[in-house]
Amino acid sequence: MTTLSTALLLLLVSGIPAANSDKTPISVLVTDSITHTPNKTYSTYVVYRGILLGGLRRLQDSTKDFMFTYTEDPNYGPFLQSVNGLPGGKQNRTYWELLVNTTKNPIIRPDVGIGCYIPNANDQIILKYTKY
Ligand SMILES: *[C@@H]1O[C@H](CO)[C@@H](O)[C@H](O)[C@H]1NC(C)=O
Ligand SMILES: *[C@@H]1O[C@H](CO)[C@@H](O)[C@H](O)[C@H]1NC(C)=O
Ligand SMILES: *[C@@H]1O[C@H](CO)[C@@H](O)[C@H](O)[C@H]1NC(C)=O
Repeated sequence: MTTLSTALLLLLVSGIPAANSDKTPISVLVTDSITHTPNKTYSTYVVYRGILLGGLRRLQDSTKDFMFTYTEDPNYGPFLQSVNGLPGGKQNRTYWELLVNTTKNPIIRPDVGIGCYIPNANDQIILKYTKY
């Protein structure tokens, strides 16, 4: 009982885990199926149970040739607007599709966006410029 209370207290006091060992490594593949810019792969990480958006921001801060913008949808949350200068838009019916190549499964299309997707270790995040 005492042990349990102590553990609970520690949990309450320490709050969000932030140790280095809690880094979840991911890679990010940027692929362009429209204008065929060569594929680019980057490595970054999210914190323990962290969202993909945090990992993309970290990558943008640490890597000169990766940049992205997103807009905030009032209902669906953040979604990618442009990656490496290529914008999605109505005129050309282009958008950035989010796919994930997990270590276990074939490629999945998460049913949530960059603000809600929580990557697993060694996920390959695929940002694909494509048409709708
Ligand atoms: C770029 O990545 C896409 C998605 O993984 C893949 O289908 C395509 O073959 C790759 N292109 C090249 C030139 O490697
Ligand atoms: C639409 O596509 C054309 C031809 O590829 C390109 O020149 C133009 O910049 C694109 N427009 C936008 C808004 O992306
Ligand atoms: C998915 O990941 C596997 C293993 O990491 C890799 O061999 C494969 O090329 C990836 N698929 C795509 C489409 O990038």
